[in-house]
Amino acid sequence: MFVLTLACFAVISTALALLVFNVTTHADGSYYITAICVNTWYRPSLQARPYLWVVIAILIVSYLAWRIRRFRASRNRPLEPQEYPYWFPVVGHTLSMMWNPQRLVDRARVYFGDTRKPFTISAMGHRFHFITNPKDVSEVYRKSNALTHDIFLSDLMTQFNISRTTRHFVFLQPDSSGRGPQLVTPNPSFKSLARLTVDMFREQLAPGPKLHRLGEITMASLEPLTRWATMKSQWYTIREEDDYRDISLLRWCQEVMLKTANRTFFGKALDRVAPKIMNHFLRFDELSYCALFQFPHCLSKLLGMTDAQDAMTADLFRYFNLPLVERSDRNWLIDQQEAEFINLGLDTKEIAKLVAMIFWVINTNAYKLLFWMVCNLLLDSILRQHVTAELRSCFDENGNLDVDALTGRDMSAMPFTNALWHETLRVTNSASSARYVATSTSVGGLHLRKGDRVIVPYRQLHYNSQVFGPSAFEFNFKQWLETDDLDRNPSYRPFGGGLWLCPGRFLAKQEICMAIAYLLYRYDVELTPFDCHGSSAQDKSQNFQQAMPRMDESSPGIGVVSAVKGDDYTIRLKKRDQD
Ligand code: HEM
Repeated sequence: MFVLTLACFAVISTALALLVFNVTTHADGSYYITAICVNTWYRPSLQARPYLWVVIAILIVSYLAWRIRRFRASRNRPLEPQEYPYWFPVVGHTLSMMWNPQRLVDRARVYFGDTRKPFTISAMGHRFHFITNPKDVSEVYRKSNALTHDIFLSDLMTQFNISRTTRHFVFLQPDSSGRGPQLVTPNPSFKSLARLTVDMFREQLAPGPKLHRLGEITMASLEPLTRWATMKSQWYTIREEDDYRDISLLRWCQEVMLKTANRTFFGKALDRVAPKIMNHFLRFDELSYCALFQFPHCLSKLLGMTDAQDAMTADLFRYFNLPLVERSDRNWLIDQQEAEFINLGLDTKEIAKLVAMIFWVINTNAYKLLFWMVCNLLLDSILRQHVTAELRSCFDENGNLDVDALTGRDMSAMPFTNALWHETLRVTNSASSARYVATSTSVGGLHLRKGDRVIVPYRQLHYNSQVFGPSAFEFNFKQWLETDDLDRNPSYRPFGGGLWLCPGRFLAKQEICMAIAYLLYRYDVELTPFDCHGSSAQDKSQNFQQAMPRMDESSPGIGVVSAVKGDDYTIRLKKRDQD
């Protein structure tokens, strides 16, 4: 579809480039357009073959007829979402969608008078209905039978080269009579493995004994990584002196979150057999828009995504080839998944590809959110003072951290940390919930046809000025202190909703707050007087301050937005006495 779209775009734009208006100017300065003709290069052949005029005229009339019919028809169907007009048939808004999806949706919403009624954008061969009204969003999440998610998962699996047979098994609903392939995990509702996997995630990651146990493992992995003696990895250290260390904040967040999560899920063996998995993952993550947009294989290869993906899969292949005794410290979820895959008869290569997808979901958001949270802390000294005091109070006199104090929705003892968490999620989460219209239904009183796709772009909800004020696009943690239950507002959906609500949200909060807690407990943190490009007060003014890293709005991801490539904060850590 992508190739077809590009081909059509090339043909149409070439045809239009050849067409020029022949403008004749009168002596009095007025002018008129005599005809539409092809440019001088083609003019002789046009004179020789006048019938070409007819062809061109037919093309233009057909084009105008198509455009008028297409978008009038949309206006004449008041019970369906209105379609955002576009110029090129077949191509639709594909290029804008790939170039800067956020800006495209902003433009379309304003085009329809900012009424927040559902509207349609055609791109990449599909009709996408965009839902931006918080009430309609709740309706989308409620209608989980008519609006499903499986097709997106299946499309992504193709991008991970997962075979058709494997995909068939993953989505196969076991026969309730017990005949045919069944799953190993108790499955009273006879769900497909895809659906049951999410249940497993929920069981492992919901607050309770399993999450508590995971929290202890996370802490055992994270605590040593933040000690003065060990916190000098080459990946992030820029300068090391006796009493301070300068580090790249982004790289520290990457290393500490990825190492911790991988230890928590896969045990120590993954690091041992795949020491470069973090680099392979980060490269893949940066280019993962190729998978999201379903670029053809050759283009993904050209851009480097396929190589990074293959390297990551090869790392996991080595891990799953190890005997079970060598990775006995893996967690319950990975253990359960592997048992299911083996039960379905999948070989280790297919298992590695499937787990590469899980690896992506587990890792893509946490390091980015940690990065933005620390950036926001460094920008606001009042917020930093309060959060530091709150998090330091979670340690006992021996320096032991109380994991449970860090989690839970209430966190009433830590209002500033909670405000930092929510506000950073609100401002930096640019993901969308994507649903497929499995059976025709309605949302916001408008009819959605079977086969169409529904998108809930969180940025449209999170930057809603009616809920978050006229400066909704700015970081303002105070609103979380001033407004009760703001996190329950239907316009705040950083983890999606309904059946597909993110099951990893409690773990994410636990591990991210834990990393900030150790950072602030063990160190005094400040921005260095020079930035990541080496510019300093000497080069610029005496009041030099590092520029806040910018959000990269143009590359879509599956959650928290990345920083613009090359943007970072360099931070100085001074050891405190507690360590
Ligand atoms: C700050 C961190 C995170 C953010 C912002 C985030 C966000 C999201 C979002 C927006 C969705 C899609 C929801 C929808 O379609 O309505 C999602 C799904 C999911 N997330 Fe997260 N997530 C985070 C961390 C995690 C972690 C740490 C894990 C696992 C350890 C995880 C596991 C999942 C899974 C398995 C799904 C798919 C659920 C399904 O298909 O039903 N997430 N996440």
